[in-house]
Amino acid sequence: MIQVQLSNIRPFISQPYEAELTPRLLTAHRHLQCHDGAGGDFTGWVALPQAYDREEFARIKAAARKIRSDSQALVVVGIGGSYLGARGVIECLCSANYNLRKKDTPNIYFVGNGLSSDYMSQIMDLLDGVDFSVNVISKSGTTTEPAVAFRFFRRMLEERYGAEGAARRIYATTDRNRGALKALADSAGYETFVVPDDIGGRYSVLTAVGLLPIAVAGVDLDELMSGAADMMKTCAAEDPDQNPAWQYAAARYALYRLGKRIEILAAYEPDFRFMAEWWKQLYGESEGKEHKGLFPASVEFTADLHSMGQYIQQGERTMLETVVRFGASHRENVVPFDEQNGDGLNFLAGKDMDFIARQAMDGTLLAHVEGGVPNIILQAERICPRTLGELIYFFEYACGLSGYLLEVNPFDQPGVEAYKKNMFALLGKPGYEELRQTLLAKLDR
Ligand code: PA5
Repeated sequence: MIQVQLSNIRPFISQPYEAELTPRLLTAHRHLQCHDGAGGDFTGWVALPQAYDREEFARIKAAARKIRSDSQALVVVGIGGSYLGARGVIECLCSANYNLRKKDTPNIYFVGNGLSSDYMSQIMDLLDGVDFSVNVISKSGTTTEPAVAFRFFRRMLEERYGAEGAARRIYATTDRNRGALKALADSAGYETFVVPDDIGGRYSVLTAVGLLPIAVAGVDLDELMSGAADMMKTCAAEDPDQNPAWQYAAARYALYRLGKRIEILAAYEPDFRFMAEWWKQLYGESEGKEHKGLFPASVEFTADLHSMGQYIQQGERTMLETVVRFGASHRENVVPFDEQNGDGLNFLAGKDMDFIARQAMDGTLLAHVEGGVPNIILQAERICPRTLGELIYFFEYACGLSGYLLEVNPFDQPGVEAYKKNMFALLGKPGYEELRQTLLAKLDR
């Protein structure tokens, strides 16, 4: 189970904040549990680890088995909440080098998460002569980036396997009833999976949105869900001492009130990089509104100690650091003895890499705290599907609480529409003519 260690924020907070925040946390918690706070219609994820659709869960596993049997690659089309969770979990559990590994599961390529023509061509080249399937994921079914990418990869499939053959290789994860993708899937005969109405993109990794690609990578979904279910029970406790999500939400909020403006999520596992990207979306999109919220950033240690370390140690004192620590590695690597000792490293000979990393973690922690950066440690078990299920639910629950402490709606994202409107106008989408003229004048075109 995740432990939240807060001793390294105490020097920065003169008054105990827990007692004062407990009533507000209780209110926030009850809103989440009763689905009656701001954005309550989008809190279906709170009970998901127990209440998920078992029939669909079995279909996800069956589809993953079929993809593993008839495809050497899976192309996952999606952006934001329809992308980052699956990539985060796959990389964390199966390696950031998953596609390079020798394995009996398909390579997984993520597309539709941007508008780079070169990136898309590179993936198309990788599919040359390769049997592949496509999982297109879009709750709305109208998001430009995945919709455009899907056109290309659908065309590729149709050219290679014919319309019917392609339809048997396309899996659409979208709204149960509405949207352009749902209509297309129904008319073309794709197998469909549901993004539940009451779960927004960034909280959807434990629905079919994340689960199908994750299952294709060979991850044990039962273990993942069971870790989330354990954390769901833990987070239901109305007791600050027993509820790690309360502890994390209260600590980061107390630091925000003291003037901290940036939260850096740090981990010492390169495989965690896309979990950190997922976390950034979760917190950034949930909290960053009404000119409020901690800016979520992330670093990968120790690599970034050699780049961002300088700023963290001595730059503006506006940040706090949250470090995710995991239990023992799966494989031991002991530093070899070298008779020449030309590098002077024999003092490390016989030491395991985990031991060395631990000293780096502790040394960094002390230096950063000394340099004025409050430090929250999230101590998790060794990386495995269960641990990740726990961590996902923990972050989601703490995020919901954090939004309510800030008095914003943690389940909407009105700000993301602004760029879309301008992009549509500049692309000449019908209905945007007036805005198009204004923007062209501003751009001096
Ligand atoms: O969290 C969110 O709501 C967003 O990141 C969406 O997931 C993202 O914009 C993709 O939307 P859609 O799934 O409708 O294509």
